[in-house]
Amino acid sequence: MLLLFISALLLPMSSLHAASDNTDAFLKRHWTQPVAPQGKPPKSFSKLEASLEPSACGTCHQRQWADWKTSLHAHAMGPGVMGQLVGVHPTDTSSLRDCTRCHAPLAEQEASLIKKLRGKKRTDALHEQGLVCAACHVRKNVRYGPPPMTPKPGGKSPHNGFIGTPAFEDGRFCATCHQFGADGYALNGKPLENTYAEWQASPYANQGKQCQSCHMPDRRHLWRGIHDAEMTRKGVTVETTPPTAHDGQVSARLTLTNSGTGHYFPTYVTPRVTMQIYQESADKQLIEGTLQEKIVARQVSLDLSEELADTRLVPGERAVLDYLVPRHPDAQGIIMRVHVEPDYFYSGLYRSLLEAEPDGKGASLLRAALKNSLESSYDLYVQRNSLSMP
Ligand code: HEC
Ligand code: HEC
Ligand code: HEC
Ligand code: HEC
Ligand code: HEC
Repeated sequence: MLLLFISALLLPMSSLHAASDNTDAFLKRHWTQPVAPQGKPPKSFSKLEASLEPSACGTCHQRQWADWKTSLHAHAMGPGVMGQLVGVHPTDTSSLRDCTRCHAPLAEQEASLIKKLRGKKRTDALHEQGLVCAACHVRKNVRYGPPPMTPKPGGKSPHNGFIGTPAFEDGRFCATCHQFGADGYALNGKPLENTYAEWQASPYANQGKQCQSCHMPDRRHLWRGIHDAEMTRKGVTVETTPPTAHDGQVSARLTLTNSGTGHYFPTYVTPRVTMQIYQESADKQLIEGTLQEKIVARQVSLDLSEELADTRLVPGERAVLDYLVPRHPDAQGIIMRVHVEPDYFYSGLYRSLLEAEPDGKGASLLRAALKNSLESSYDLYVQRNSLSMP
């Protein structure tokens, strides 16, 4: 139910640029919805060259395959998505495409998903592999990729070689799925997905630092983001002033700066970042009444009808938490912490879907998704200071 509501909001991206260049024209042809069927492979192709399976590409492109397998793109059809899609009727392709156009874009994946929804025992399960290599790289059995780093020697190449195009090195390639167009769903005048526009307004765009520069360094296929603590640490700077206790008052300061994230920190409505300072007892427990915190997030209601607050950090911006709380008699230490819940919104969404239909078709998948979404949380930063006796 909620699925249908949300899907109605996900309108196709319209042109972001007034002036269109070759890259815009290429991307318009490249990202049809769904990506058109590949058709019959050329007679000269071996079975391996004809296959759309990531494992087939991985036979020859081992580095990309090893990276991709660990990425969220490879897990884009996990239980959170499937738990919502199992309730869709297999003939309702328009509702399916509202999700698969970003999560599993190939026509062959749509076909395999529909088979699955019809209850057929799986023959292949290309849709389960999410955003596969071929979705970004193969059209009508022709390989497309970035221009080669080093010119390749002549001779006969597998899959008839490839067409190199600078579109693969351009952030607009990513915007297809990471930016809503002007007609897409917006709250308070800001599209729900606005990463490309945030980046365009940042100094990184002027420096020519594309999405790929940070998310695919050295052309790696890892796409780390907020789910990865190391990546997130690269995007921010945490500073503290040592806590002091004077006249029965404890004071301290925690600062979080968006120092290296190419867009708002964080960019989506789904994560929640919490800055906290509190006093702790001898057994390292939070002492009630001593916590002060600040949330850095774009908070929206579960039905996406309302933006509750937007405290995300624009590139260069900082959030300051100034702590001033009476010293608790049991306090032995003071904790300064930055906590990240990458899937905060989804945990709430899965809970509400499960509450509405505890025995629904997708319930067991949604329970698995809820568990995953809670487990993705981590401490970005923790500092523990003892409160010495005055
Ligand atoms: C039999 C081995 C083999 C298989 C299977 C294979 N490739 Fe390739 N691929 C190659 C080789 C070798 C090259 C370099 C070709 C050249 O220089 O013309 C290449 C080139 C490419 C390029 C261009 C790289 C660049 O520099 O831009 C892309 C993209 C690509 N392959 C994607 C794929 C995808 C996606 C699949 C699976 C659907 C796949 N390949 C399957 C061997 C293979
Ligand atoms: C066909 C659509 C599509 C394209 C094109 C695409 N992405 Fe994604 N991307 C997704 C989806 C869907 C997810 C979420 C996967 C999931 O968790 O279910 C995602 C996830 C990510 C994440 C992980 C974020 C996190 O929460 O940690 C990063 C980073 C990312 N993409 C960067 C990129 C970059 C950079 C490009 C361009 C080179 C790109 N993407 C191109 C669809 C796409
Ligand atoms: C315009 C591209 C786009 C469309 C269309 C889209 N998504 Fe996503 N989806 C994303 C991106 C990007 C992420 C990663 C966001 C993040 O990590 O915060 C994501 C993440 C998710 C997640 C959480 C990660 C996971 O795999 O469990 C779920 C669940 C999800 N989408 C469900 C859906 C459903 C259901 C639909 C159809 C109604 C849909 N999405 C349509 C781009 C899209
Ligand atoms: C979300 C889209 C996406 C997916 C999925 C994807 N790639 Fe790529 N791939 C790219 C982009 C973008 C580049 C160029 C990055 C750059 O130039 O910074 C690239 C580059 C490449 C190259 C050229 C590497 C080089 O060093 O020159 C090869 C080969 C390749 N990809 C193969 C694969 C294979 C194999 C898979 C699956 C295991 C895969 N890709 C999955 C987007 C994708
Ligand atoms: C200067 C480096 C840099 C550039 C450029 C950059 N990013 Fe990021 N991105 C990061 C860092 C660091 C994170 C982790 C912190 C965070 O989540 O904000 C991140 C997180 C993400 C996420 C995780 C979701 C979230 O809510 O934060 C997505 C998706 C993403 N980036 C996509 C993109 C896309 C698409 C572009 C290009 C329009 C891009 N990024 C440009 C550094 C960069």
